[in-house]
Amino acid sequence: MNPAPSNKTCSSHTEVVLSEDVRQENDTHQNEVRHEDYEVRIEPDGVTIRIPHGAQLLKGLRDHYYGRDGRGAFPGCRSGGCGYCKASLVKGSIDHKSTYSKGALKDDEREHGYILMCQSYVLSDMVIWLLPQENPFLRWRRK
Ligand code: FES
Repeated sequence: MNPAPSNKTCSSHTEVVLSEDVRQENDTHQNEVRHEDYEVRIEPDGVTIRIPHGAQLLKGLRDHYYGRDGRGAFPGCRSGGCGYCKASLVKGSIDHKSTYSKGALKDDEREHGYILMCQSYVLSDMVIWLLPQENPFLRWRRK
């Protein structure tokens, strides 16, 4: 059994001192939470993949979705510039970074639940809806 943390009190403040055992237990718990995998359901295909907590959503799809079962490889820029990875976040939580082109994701799209998967980091189980997208390199070649 781990000793409980002790409180040392003086007139101006209270200091909580944790024993080494309690610190290790806390660190172990934080590591367990940090490494939790989440289920990401990809619609309209109905495919479910698992992505670790805090991992980039697009990397998860590139590792487990694109290039498999007859799907093509992911052709987008992976850096917030092209909009190919735009999807609708139907359910779940993400950390969405703010460094991307407003041409790739407009402010009103962001307010209505659209995300760029290359800018999104997974914080929970989720459901996303992939939009029909034109390969950006084919579009560029046509110009
Ligand atoms: S892959 Fe180009 S914006 Fe995300």
